[in-house]
Amino acid sequence: MESEQQMSKQLREFQEHLKKSKKIVALVGAGLSVSSGLPTFRGSQGLWKNFNMIDLATPDAFYIDPGLVWQFYSWRRVSALKARPNRGHLALSKLSNLSSNRDNGKKVDYITITQNVDGLSSRSNHCKDNLYEIHGSLFNLKCTSFMCNYVDRNNFKHPLTKALADTEDEYEKKNRKRTLEEIEQQDLSISPQFKPVVQLTESDLPQCPVCKDGSLLRPGVVWFGESLPLNVITKIDNFIESETPVDLVLVIGTSGTVYPANSYVDRIKLKGGKVAIFNTDIEEDILQGKVKDTWGFRGDAAELLPVALEPLIGEI
Ligand code: OAD
Ligand code: ZN
Repeated sequence: MESEQQMSKQLREFQEHLKKSKKIVALVGAGLSVSSGLPTFRGSQGLWKNFNMIDLATPDAFYIDPGLVWQFYSWRRVSALKARPNRGHLALSKLSNLSSNRDNGKKVDYITITQNVDGLSSRSNHCKDNLYEIHGSLFNLKCTSFMCNYVDRNNFKHPLTKALADTEDEYEKKNRKRTLEEIEQQDLSISPQFKPVVQLTESDLPQCPVCKDGSLLRPGVVWFGESLPLNVITKIDNFIESETPVDLVLVIGTSGTVYPANSYVDRIKLKGGKVAIFNTDIEEDILQGKVKDTWGFRGDAAELLPVALEPLIGEI
């Protein structure tokens, strides 16, 4: 357990560097949305109806059972719609608008790279120009036909089809009001009493309005093994590799297990940037200040970020 003293020493050093930083990147993962009520992928929370969420986020899973995968995404859509951005989202949103508002004298070049598809950053009034949703969005739908490039953006309809109605409501009721502590303390040995997954056929699922053969629509998210949107990746590369190096990368609520998101931190470090980690789970060496140019803040990102970033963004 880190001592209060160690924490405040880290905070002091971090904030000194923050105030001097001219160029900042935030790399965001599922942990940022936990206190909004949305689960992470890995660890104790990563189950949906006893399926491992990571197994469902693949092209293979969709190919084998599109009805199952669509039920999973329908649940994620409605959970995200019912969730509200938290104080962590708001802190980053303020940082993003600081960079676009050059009149306040605080010139900060800033981008948020989020792996989250829940849309909470964009709903927190984050500046659109410096928000990169590298894994796409639950609220974009795209055609699965190779010959068709139909995309329906910002579709917030629920349910998307009659058959997809209600498949997630039970989970939602159970989880909505749980505190972070309750989520962390849940007993995994007890199987949640979900309704079993309903078998759906293709005609029950969202279909492309353009394709004559009724091709399926799929969620507009990046699945394992798929490539990330090239235009977005190029913009991020340009930001990180440009002549002025990034001074600081905030690594927020991510396990850092997925490429290329995890590579950004090392690339920034190589060019002299410093790292600040906000996570409920942080290595002891980092907490004790033993890792060079790296600060660690252990706890809920929604609580930590407004405090840590206050010298730049003011009070929330
Ligand atoms: P993970 O589930 O891998 O990691 C979540 C991280 O958040 C872990 O390091 C937790 O310790 C941390 N965490 C949990 N609660 C937190 C809290 N309240 N405050 C701060 N941190 C907290 O999620 P990601 O790193 O986002 O990709 O996963 C990356 C990608 O893998 C996802 O975008 C998704 C997934 O498969 C695709 O679907 C392509
Ligand atoms: Zn189509």
